[in-house]
Amino acid sequence: MQITILDTTLRDGEQSPGVALRPADKPEIAKSLDRMGVNVIEAGFAITSPGEREGMRLVAKAGLRAEICGLARAEKSDIDETLETGIKCVHIFLATSDIHLRDKLRMTQEEVLQKADSAVAYAKSMGMKVEFSAEDATSTDTGFLKEVYRTAAMAGADRIDIPDTLGRATPKHMAHLIREMRSAVDLPISVHCHNDFGLAVANSIAAVEAGAQCVHVTVNGVGERAGNAALEEVVGILNHLKLDEEYSTSVDLKGVYEVSQLVSRLYGMPVQPNKAIVGANAFSHESGIHTHGIVNNPKTYQFVSPESFGRETTIVNGKHSGVHGVEATLRKYGINAPREELMAILDMIKRAGDDGRSVGDAEVVAMAMKVENGR
Ligand code: KIV
Ligand code: ZN
Repeated sequence: MQITILDTTLRDGEQSPGVALRPADKPEIAKSLDRMGVNVIEAGFAITSPGEREGMRLVAKAGLRAEICGLARAEKSDIDETLETGIKCVHIFLATSDIHLRDKLRMTQEEVLQKADSAVAYAKSMGMKVEFSAEDATSTDTGFLKEVYRTAAMAGADRIDIPDTLGRATPKHMAHLIREMRSAVDLPISVHCHNDFGLAVANSIAAVEAGAQCVHVTVNGVGERAGNAALEEVVGILNHLKLDEEYSTSVDLKGVYEVSQLVSRLYGMPVQPNKAIVGANAFSHESGIHTHGIVNNPKTYQFVSPESFGRETTIVNGKHSGVHGVEATLRKYGINAPREELMAILDMIKRAGDDGRSVGDAEVVAMAMKVENGR
């Protein structure tokens, strides 16, 4: 089954604390996402600022294959602002949990139902495609949540989204909720997971296995607080790992490293070195046992080839190195050292390691020269 990928790097991702894009940054990122085959790009939240609307307009005009959508509260003004950017698909959200109704919206459940109904109906009357989100769905009473989504469906919504706004769900909870909503509404279901407990990706995959057809993601997992489900991880899992059923996406991750670097630079958010798929260490090997395996057959320690993600294997040298890693490093520079020299170089590398540092390729080559000259 093909899963729809909705990327919200330009909306939820830009809501990362301290991040602000210039209008021209949005189409640059959107074009890269489009090249990779992302199905839907959430370009922004039009009510935010004039510059936000300008960026959204530029994305709408960029002639992309992907469907472009914009976020809106369940307010006519927000929907109108979205439409004015030239975007024809709106993601309407309205909070539904007791705490949000009591302490934020100060609305009754009946009023929420009416607001959802009129917002969706208005957007449809303007010819828009509508995805409807019940904000804080995972804290909402299940019976009321069904009523909300039924109301949105009756008003003409094209897809419903189940956001785990606080990142408080577990995979079991998420799967249960998806099954419950499937039993209530006959529409495609999206899932939008936050990473407050590090479960955004696991929850998204559990949702897919329970029948969700669309996943909201962001590049590098950027987003509010601890972020959203990472595009590279969700798509990597759906494209490459064995799950309950066979899933696929239209996204080719060969371009993901480039987009990851672009987002990291424009958002001012460095990628943690041990981040899956796009981190500096994701395909890097130091320890002797691993480098031995890797030089013989990369599949010993890499389930999917780094090239599938626009990366390459790297071998680094340090305290944990073994002779195969040193040999492979030197071969890269056309040096074929005999075994006793390799052992001497390894000894020098390990002594550097015991002094608390690793050594770069240039230093390994210098060590090789020194050892050769000392013979
Ligand atoms: O996390 C959330 O609930 C959201 C909504 C706007 C869908 O981002
Ligand atoms: Zn969110």
